[in-house]
Amino acid sequence: MKRLLVTGGCGFIGSEFVRQQLANYPDQTVVNLDALTYAGNVENLAALEGNPRYEFVHGDITDRNLIDTLLKDKPFDAVVHFAAESHVDRSLLDSGPFVRTNVLGTQVLLDASRAAKVDKFVHVSTDEVYGSLGATGLFTEETPLAPNSPYSASKASSDMLVRSYFHSFHFPAVITRCSNNYGPYQFPEKLIPLFITNLMANEQVPIYGTGTNVRDWIHVSDHCRGIDAALRKGMPGEVYNFGGRCEKTNMEITLLLLELLEKPQSLIRYVADRPGHDLRYAIDCSKAERELGWTPQVVFSEGLRDTINWYRENTTWTSRVKSGAYRQYYQQQYASRLA
Ligand code: NAD
Ligand code: TYD
Repeated sequence: MKRLLVTGGCGFIGSEFVRQQLANYPDQTVVNLDALTYAGNVENLAALEGNPRYEFVHGDITDRNLIDTLLKDKPFDAVVHFAAESHVDRSLLDSGPFVRTNVLGTQVLLDASRAAKVDKFVHVSTDEVYGSLGATGLFTEETPLAPNSPYSASKASSDMLVRSYFHSFHFPAVITRCSNNYGPYQFPEKLIPLFITNLMANEQVPIYGTGTNVRDWIHVSDHCRGIDAALRKGMPGEVYNFGGRCEKTNMEITLLLLELLEKPQSLIRYVADRPGHDLRYAIDCSKAERELGWTPQVVFSEGLRDTINWYRENTTWTSRVKSGAYRQYYQQQYASRLA
């Protein structure tokens, strides 16, 4: 794997993956294709400016001409596909961009990668394609897909396209499905970075419904090590689940953040529940452990403390990404939940 094309490398998880790859594989080059939507920030990879093994290409994965040219001009050994619209709440407001990027964009990338005969294609997906669990049980790779939000439906659609390219054309694709990530550079619209940055500013934190929904939290660096293992050791046609074995209710997360940031419980604000809110996600990641030799390593309490420290040390980043269009989105989102 000498030459990698990464899509969505200016986002939260993609930027961690690019940093890890360049640090861990000294003979590898990475081209990062990103459309720089509201969630993409070139600053996330500012430390790589001038690195001869790294190149940024500003472009959209739905642009077939651009993707064809890129793949023809620069033969890549593998494609690792992160680019997506990634937030459930936004998909409930407008599913159009989700279908365009997540479904159409994946199809364009698959066709161009197939024509270019890449050796491996890693499709980064989510446990949300499995739907919701009750109080017990875990998602395995055999759990039927039952997506409940427009976001997860668009990701499940892209997973099905990837599956079909393996089945029909023996296209060497692997699908990874991971649980909720946390860590540095996460856009502060998702639970953990939103609550950290609100609490730092002494603003209220909006809990949807009763706060009893459960997510399985994994540090972004563990997720990226899993994707790397899938890239190098994953069998084409296979799916690998990654999770942190760290189930927490949203209320547990909130109370932990209040404690670590030394803020009062009066900042908790219960708001209207998310429509169709999935109750519980929890991953059985034993296949990845067995077949890829991967295991989650970051202890949640330590990862969370480091994440808080990162947001404390990067207030310029946070105030920039939380301003302008984001402010408008946030106010609209919560005005409707408080109504
Ligand atoms: P993110 O929203 O932080 O970043 C997405 C990136 O994709 C941004 O840099 C954005 O500019 C880029 N992008 C969006 N549309 C594009 C387009 N049309 N063309 C090119 N680039 C485009 O997302 P993230 O949280 O880093 O998630 C990355 C991937 O991991 C997604 O596919 C997501 O479904 C998956 N995933 C995320 C989580 C999580 O907890 N965040 C968990 C499991 C899987
Ligand atoms: P989120 O970070 O949006 O990830 P996902 O919906 O993909 O799991 O949300 C995580 C959990 O936190 C989910 O149960 C919804 C809840 N949540 C809140 O209670 N308040 C908020 O402001 C946000 C963004 C999420």
